[in-house]
Amino acid sequence: MILPSLSSRSFLATALLASTLDSSGNLASAAAAADDRLTDTRNIVRCGVENIPVPELLKMEEEFKNHRIVLEAGHGADSNASWVNDPLSINMYLHVIAANETAEGGSVSDTQIKDQIDVLNTDYQTMNIDFQLKNVTRTVRPEWFNVKPSSKEQAEMKRSLRQGGPADLNVYLGCLDPPGLLGYSTFPRDIRENPIDDGVVVLFSSLPGGAAEPYNEGKTLTHEVGHWLGLYHTFQGGCNEPGDFVEDTPAEAKPGFGCPEGRKSCKHSTGLDPIHNFMDYGDDNCLSSFTQGQVVRARDQIAIYRGIKSSKHGGSGSSGGGKQHTGRPGKYHHDRRNSRHEVQKGLI
Ligand SMILES: *[C@@H]1O[C@H](CO)[C@@H](O)[C@H](O)[C@H]1NC(C)=O
Ligand SMILES: *[C@@H]1O[C@H](CO)[C@@H](O)[C@H](O)[C@H]1NC(C)=O
Ligand SMILES: *[C@@H]1O[C@H](CO)[C@@H](O)[C@H](O)[C@H]1NC(C)=O
Ligand SMILES: [Zn+2]
Repeated sequence: MILPSLSSRSFLATALLASTLDSSGNLASAAAAADDRLTDTRNIVRCGVENIPVPELLKMEEEFKNHRIVLEAGHGADSNASWVNDPLSINMYLHVIAANETAEGGSVSDTQIKDQIDVLNTDYQTMNIDFQLKNVTRTVRPEWFNVKPSSKEQAEMKRSLRQGGPADLNVYLGCLDPPGLLGYSTFPRDIRENPIDDGVVVLFSSLPGGAAEPYNEGKTLTHEVGHWLGLYHTFQGGCNEPGDFVEDTPAEAKPGFGCPEGRKSCKHSTGLDPIHNFMDYGDDNCLSSFTQGQVVRARDQIAIYRGIKSSKHGGSGSSGGGKQHTGRPGKYHHDRRNSRHEVQKGLI
């Protein structure tokens, strides 16, 4: 029924943590955990990926756009190009961090792992991406079990466990701190600055059959992997442009906790809120889709930053290393067609 971490005591702990951070004036994103905009009614934090400030976001997106032009110039790609739908396979390494060898201590079963991978691969069929589990490591270590984003212990854990390169997905399962946090992820562009940090961290009890109802059908991993592939929340930026930088996800004022069927939270957006989108915050049984625009964005993001490309556009599945496009941003500004050749010459 509820998370082990959601006893009334944990509620209090979460509230205290949030207000402490709030009054100390830093860590606004953590403080926002107390704001019901980002938590559900029981103080569950669906995801720890921050709502990035718009100026910073625009800068990063400008860089992405520049690289994207290069990618398109090289391969004649557009949102309907066939490479977008080519099958891709991505290697995955799963790291189970546990406090002890019991189920409540984080030692998830092999069956749960298998069920989780099945959910993940079903959810990514729209993108034609298949995640292949290459290795599972199991570490019983209480001081690592309560994984806290940006902590020294988290960095140490990733440093000793991470496997593969920029094109490989590393997933860490543990009990997240603050209590109630379900998961968080790095973005593709982060890998250049901090390759060891790259990966996804997910609450162990969010796996299928875990205790984190209604978040125990494995959609937390699907959602976090969406960030790992470069997608933002559907409610990123609220009702204002450019939102989540995907054209076919209607703007949304706030997360769709539960499953608010038929909601339309932005007056001027076309269509209803995308509450069934994996990048929203609904209950697991409410989340069921990515849009074609998200598929294109994710494919571009991982081609550019992770070197993951299908054979049809010059890559070889998951063997990339994020090295192909190291060009400087800033040459391209507004007119995409006219700038193509110039950019191509400069960067390829
Ligand atoms: C892509 O395909 C859709 C649906 O088939 C079509 O409406 C759209 O115009 C196409 N876009 C481009 C750029 O060809
Ligand atoms: C295992 O760890 C969990 C989480 O820390 C704890 O609640 C439980 O009491 C522990 N069980 C044993 C047998 O040590
Ligand atoms: C899995 O990872 C462990 C720890 O790094 C390593 O010892 C083992 O050889 C790996 N197994 C496979 C099949 O790669
Ligand atoms: Zn998220």
